[in-house]
Amino acid sequence: MIKTVEWTNEGVRMLDQRLLPTEEKYLMLRSYEEIADAIKKMVVRGAPAIGISAAMGLALGASQSVGTSVADLEYDFKFICKVMEATRPTAVNLFWAIERMRGALQKAKTETHDVEEIKQRLISEAQAIFNEDIASNRALGKFGGELIADGATVLTHCNAGALATAGDYGTALGVVRGAIDAGKRVAVIADETRPFLQGSRLTAWELAKDNIPVTVITDNMAGHVMKQGKVDCVVVGADRIAANGDTANKIGTYMVAVLARQHNIPFYVAAPISTVDLATASGEQIPIEERNAKEVTHIRDQQLTPDGVAVRNFAFDVTPNELIAAIITDRGVARPPYTESLRSLATTRSAHAP
Ligand code: MRU
Repeated sequence: MIKTVEWTNEGVRMLDQRLLPTEEKYLMLRSYEEIADAIKKMVVRGAPAIGISAAMGLALGASQSVGTSVADLEYDFKFICKVMEATRPTAVNLFWAIERMRGALQKAKTETHDVEEIKQRLISEAQAIFNEDIASNRALGKFGGELIADGATVLTHCNAGALATAGDYGTALGVVRGAIDAGKRVAVIADETRPFLQGSRLTAWELAKDNIPVTVITDNMAGHVMKQGKVDCVVVGADRIAANGDTANKIGTYMVAVLARQHNIPFYVAAPISTVDLATASGEQIPIEERNAKEVTHIRDQQLTPDGVAVRNFAFDVTPNELIAAIITDRGVARPPYTESLRSLATTRSAHAP
């Protein structure tokens, strides 16, 4: 199993995704500051993996607090929450995981005044978030796998696989793995996903490692391959799903959804229920991260655009709910109208809830 992020006795171990596919290097992060920096710089990325990393960052930071009272520990914890919240704005899993850690601290506080015991409980909560992510992706992979026909070719955008989660299945790629584990033959077309190249670098890497057939195309080839009849369905992940089903995902996802509609190809979103943000009514309220222009003007140190030219680097876009055939979650498959189906799934207690 690919270990994207892992709690160890020495610190948090992370696969440096910036170096893939040419180098498989693990970093040992020994402070919450290093973890926050790793999230910002995309050493780790993908909505669920960002949430897990933030939770581990909070657990690590709290465990290193030198405060001797519960009040001291809480003061430090609140400060670390602020640092984590400021890393990346779009993926709601980050805020969801921080909220869960806050809840764990509050609960622990009512049960004990032993600072060391509370620190231990925070570590256990971060580990529980990690373990539940693996279970969630297995569950959504099973639900989603049923929507994939034997012999299908699935187009995906960005990386919503093991690398974007705790490891193992992933979300969109969890659906592919779920179908394969159910005995179906499935091939994947991976959009390259400019500018950070999560498709060509990461999706292709993890699928090739698992011997799942994968073909990489540049983003502007998607329409052509759909027109040629080479795509049976599209499955993508999500960074935040609003209450009405509008879905923020990697920049370019909206373009793929419009193309899928034009060619009558079902467009599916796969995400754990923690990605559904019922507090956000529609996609218009989802904050869209804009990253450093250098990710567009350069590939590693190779300059691609003239000096001084204006550049925008939006990291995400929003696909309107009417383009989405179904939203595959760990609690089942939501169909339109999403305002009802998502609320009903999100408010159902999960089989693996704490
Ligand atoms: O900028 P990134 O690489 O963190 O963006 C990741 C995506 O957009 C993924 O598709 C999404 O987080 C789903 S990951 C299971």
